[in-house]
Amino acid sequence: MPLDAVPVPAGPREPGPDSGSTAVAHPNIALIKYWGKRDEELVVPCVDSLSMTLDILPTTTTVTLCPQGRPDRVTFDGSPAEGERRHRIIAFVDLVRELAGRSDPVLVETRNAVPTGAGLASSASGFAALAVAATAAYSLRLDPTALSRLARRGSASAARSVFGGFALCHAGHGVGAAADLSSYAEPVPLPDFDPAMVIAVVSTSAKAVSSRAAMRRTVETSPLYRAWAASGRADLTDIRAALRRGDLAAVGEITERNALGMHATMLAARPAVRYFSPATMAVLDSVLQLRRDGVPAYATMDAGPNVKVLCPPEAADRVAEAVRGAVPDGSVLIARRGPGARLLPGAER
Ligand code: DP6
Repeated sequence: MPLDAVPVPAGPREPGPDSGSTAVAHPNIALIKYWGKRDEELVVPCVDSLSMTLDILPTTTTVTLCPQGRPDRVTFDGSPAEGERRHRIIAFVDLVRELAGRSDPVLVETRNAVPTGAGLASSASGFAALAVAATAAYSLRLDPTALSRLARRGSASAARSVFGGFALCHAGHGVGAAADLSSYAEPVPLPDFDPAMVIAVVSTSAKAVSSRAAMRRTVETSPLYRAWAASGRADLTDIRAALRRGDLAAVGEITERNALGMHATMLAARPAVRYFSPATMAVLDSVLQLRRDGVPAYATMDAGPNVKVLCPPEAADRVAEAVRGAVPDGSVLIARRGPGARLLPGAER
């Protein structure tokens, strides 16, 4: 157990119906992407990543401890969670129970404002909220680094949603416990860099191939993967310098090339993983046209067909209009930088 994860002893507590701990977390969008794990069980990424946490589409999760002997229960948007989704949540709660040295069964209630599994970073906000709510419920006090490391075990991108604004997630070094200990996110303080992120939701369907399976296939079979991971290191150095200068055009160019490179690795996987749809291409075309018209707008895409467009806040309405024109059946949201994961008032124990 990492030293900073030592549980604070808590006396026995009789949970009542109102004893849940509720946390809220927001999704984040990576400007430098994480794709590929070097340890599947510990969820340790192969590459460093850098993201912006959004101020929209939060996940709200309540964890309530139940009397011994009761079964664990998980609800998702009010309905019982099943299959893989339930399994990942319970496995995560088991991890928290182990760290806390407790065995109380739980009721986990999660509500997502973001469509789940559609490449809109629902697992990032989901596991960040669960990490905060579950550690509070079990009276486990973790510092932000330990909390980020714990959230990573649910979903590597969740390590970044622990923090607001911009966050850098370290791939870490070594193997086993050393890898686990050295892989976490930390905030990148950029008080004056406040771009908009226009989100083109072209589909809210769950993806056909999970990001977990897709990244495994990419690492194992794509001849382009290593080259992309290597160029990602240069992308990270370049974007950090551009962020420090507040150079949105450079940040956007690096963001776009990093994402397109990631999708190229997937297209070269065997068999190929293709998340782009015709609507994705239409949005990418509209972004190119915006740039030709002098509007600094840059696209990034995750494990799904939806497109996120980075731009100056004063250009956000124009970008949203152009994107809407490209996908009349889709919906368009405008986000700014948002807060880190936190307990709701009254939920503190
Ligand atoms: C394309 O964090 O959802 O959004 O760690 O397997 O749960 P797991 O994957 P997840 O993958 C996110 C990949 C990405 C890029 C990114 O957010 O960095």
